[in-house]
Amino acid sequence: MALQKVVRSTVIDAPIEKVWAVLRDFNSHDQWHTVVDTSEIEDGKTSDRVGCVRNFTLQDGNHIREMLLSLSDKDHVSTYTIVEATVPLQRYVATVTLKPVTDGQRTFWHWASTFSTPAGMEAQLREMVAHGVYEAGFANLKRHLQLGHSTARSTTRSTGNLPIRQASPITAQTIKVREYGDATQLRAETSDVPPPGPGEVRIRQTAIGVNYLDVYLRKGWIPDFLPLPGTPGMEAAGEVIDVGTDVTSLLPGDRVAYMGPLPGSYSSVRNVPVAWTVRLSGGMDDITAAASLLKGITADYLLHDLGRVQAGTRLLVHAAAGGVGSMVCAWARNKGALVMGTVSSEAKARIARDHGCQHVIVTSDYTFSAAVHSIAQGADVIIDGLGDAAREENFAALAPCGHWISLGQASGPLQPLSPDWLVSKSVSFSRPVAFAYVANHALLNQRAERVWQAMREGIVPPVQTERFALKDAAAAHARLESRQSTGALVLLPG
Ligand SMILES: NC(=O)c1ccc[n+]([C@@H]2O[C@H](COP(=O)([O-])OP(=O)(O)OC[C@H]3O[C@@H](n4cnc5c(N)ncnc54)[C@H](OP(=O)(O)O)[C@@H]3O)[C@@H](O)[C@H]2O)c1
Repeated sequence: MALQKVVRSTVIDAPIEKVWAVLRDFNSHDQWHTVVDTSEIEDGKTSDRVGCVRNFTLQDGNHIREMLLSLSDKDHVSTYTIVEATVPLQRYVATVTLKPVTDGQRTFWHWASTFSTPAGMEAQLREMVAHGVYEAGFANLKRHLQLGHSTARSTTRSTGNLPIRQASPITAQTIKVREYGDATQLRAETSDVPPPGPGEVRIRQTAIGVNYLDVYLRKGWIPDFLPLPGTPGMEAAGEVIDVGTDVTSLLPGDRVAYMGPLPGSYSSVRNVPVAWTVRLSGGMDDITAAASLLKGITADYLLHDLGRVQAGTRLLVHAAAGGVGSMVCAWARNKGALVMGTVSSEAKARIARDHGCQHVIVTSDYTFSAAVHSIAQGADVIIDGLGDAAREENFAALAPCGHWISLGQASGPLQPLSPDWLVSKSVSFSRPVAFAYVANHALLNQRAERVWQAMREGIVPPVQTERFALKDAAAAHARLESRQSTGALVLLPG
């Protein structure tokens, strides 16, 4: 397996002795690197003794044990290796090197490592080490020294009153629902977005993804989810403008996309937990990211986890030209599934075919089971965002032992199903939600990377977008509900 290499460097505005005094202490990171929660040297050894092992608990709950391999006070170099970790970094060896900058008051700091990773996680883990550990570490140590800590040991953490934090609220344009109802209930207002709280980042949003779930919330179908007055929206992309305490993996200026289980993304500025975010690299633009993060991750868990779709699976996808549907069709076809899909018009049929749907059934009144039986003698897996109007037809379309995945209810809430009805064909029924499949930050990043990779490789074409100004959110919802839209809808703050 090829070794990954990460190299980062910076210049610190402090003399080399001051920087080295912190870094030579192998047990110092919990004092200045905010990714580290606790650090302890095992077996009562001193923290500059070669062979000592430090035991880290990270802020995200991970554990890492690292051994000091060498330490030179003369050359200002130390090396260390991971001996055990709950993050999948293997054969990790890192070197920290300091050199005085010629004016004597500044220090050049070089941090480099090599490691291997499980297949498919190379880019994600390189990024995590480079940004979340090294670059965040540079910024954290600079602040630590600015705050007057010349050695590692101190009684307070180094994250308070940081210069990169803005203390004041920012006025944002925000869509509010004050009464449940039709699309006209979405109205633009202004609101103050406070500085980010602990563990949060404040984002100036550039693109906001519209999802059918936003319609259910606006209608009041799930009132606990959107108490009034409320702001819908589960995903967006934009630029981090400031970060709360304990945030080490992102810095102002980073571009991110996010999805999260609490609505509120229909706004030009928003605070979100850092655990909801994925950093965007140069190859991914904000609009594509906002349009495809939640929908792509939905396609990912439907195909790979819940539906276990593989070559030969007879798959029926409803709304096959829509946001989720078009991504599911393309990905499933690439896996060799037999892909059938429903759409309500010939224009949508062309789009569905272009996305790998081999057998397109054009129907606007939810009749499709006869067609499914004539194409494939039934469906092994049905991906159903239609809901109640298609209830009987979905059951009829299932092959024996099939799997009915009810992920949405565009036509209305699905009425309860009787277990005896299901047993008559020995079928299974699932009612999943995407947020449960990205329950922690590592999983979110892993799934997002899988989606971006599928897009980079052309397995899933970039989702087509219909764009609206944020203030025209009502028009976007009306369009989505009209059954005329194709691909994904995106709101753009002015
Ligand atoms: N549970 C989850 O994790 C999860 C995550 C994301 C999305 N979803 C669900 O997946 C489905 C697709 O979501 P999306 O955001 O990508 O939307 P979408 O598919 O782009 O738009 C919805 C489509 O549903 C079809 N539809 C059928 N009957 C309809 C009706 N009475 N009113 C409006 N549309 C109707 C239309 O396609 P045709 O006209 O071609 O039939 C329409 O274009 C939704 O049910 C959504 O709730 C679930």
